[in-house]
Amino acid sequence: MASRIPLDTLKASLVHPPKVTSVKALVESTDFSSLPSFYTFTHNLHDEPISDDPDDSIPIIDISLLVSGTPEEQSQVIHQLNKACSDWGCFMVINHGVSESLTKAMIASFQEFFDLPEEEKKVFQGNHVMDPIRCGTGFNPSINKANLWRDYLKCITYPEFHSPNKPAGFSEIALEFSKRNREVVTVLLKAISKSLGLEESYINKAANFELGLQLLAANYYPACPEPEKVIGIPAHYDHGLLTTLVNNGVSGLQVTHKEKWFNVHVPANVLFVQVADHLEILSNGKYKSIEHRALVNDKATRMSIALAHGPSLDTIIRSAPELVDSESHPPAYVQITYKAFLELQQTGKLRDKFE
Ligand code: OGA
Ligand code: NI
Repeated sequence: MASRIPLDTLKASLVHPPKVTSVKALVESTDFSSLPSFYTFTHNLHDEPISDDPDDSIPIIDISLLVSGTPEEQSQVIHQLNKACSDWGCFMVINHGVSESLTKAMIASFQEFFDLPEEEKKVFQGNHVMDPIRCGTGFNPSINKANLWRDYLKCITYPEFHSPNKPAGFSEIALEFSKRNREVVTVLLKAISKSLGLEESYINKAANFELGLQLLAANYYPACPEPEKVIGIPAHYDHGLLTTLVNNGVSGLQVTHKEKWFNVHVPANVLFVQVADHLEILSNGKYKSIEHRALVNDKATRMSIALAHGPSLDTIIRSAPELVDSESHPPAYVQITYKAFLELQQTGKLRDKFE
């Protein structure tokens, strides 16, 4: 016989969703049988049109050619980057030196982190965007009324390195992983500067990248019995210069391409790179920040690790004067520091696409 629920408990649960510490805890709880309504979206995101032209695929960049290729090969890759950043806003980097074993170890270590008892993870709960370590689940009242089907851990890893002190080995792996990714981005930013017709060190200097903020974010999306009703992360833009991303072989990431959604499958040996807001600002809109989102599925838990590589917090970011021309390319962005940008983004006061 079904147990009776006291009426006032039921009412309360309709008004205030029960306190869920993580989606993982929810799906693993013994009494989880159906999807709580505060996770459901009004329309089925899986039904939106998909861009599936087989001849149109995400550009692949062989970064080793930028380091050790002939001058001709280097300029070819710079040309490919120009096309990738302007036609897509994202690309796949191969031969990047972040070893597959390091990436695997990083993903395994994050799995161990998410497997910690809820009380132990609670210690790392942060509230402010600038808290160096923040662990939580995806409730974002400013974006939507529905909870997100995602748990996360975010750590600032540069200029100062922060990470949880457990599980064992996590810190060492995260430090190495962040450093290696940063090296890749350093090479890319030089080539991207050149691809914009700027001097090689332009972005590095303009963004004060030597002290640039690096944010490591791990996303954990448990399998969901009704994936068409929920969302992992709604459509958004990343705020840094570039984002590098890997995942555990389970797909779910989509990017906007030619006004449709495009399913991104990230192979194990690839770093997926996205153009983010501050590269858009520096390039005066020549390279647009890419819109993306994450869907979930009913078969397997998806994990992704995204590293946002941004300017230094106190640097005012403006469009490169060489790319501004008062008639055909007027300056299109307000000049504020990266820190002010992040704070504004949190308040929901950033309008248009940067919200
Ligand atoms: C993010 C993000 C996408 C993914 O963390 O900002 O967009 O594939 N993640 O998990
Ligand atoms: Ni993102």
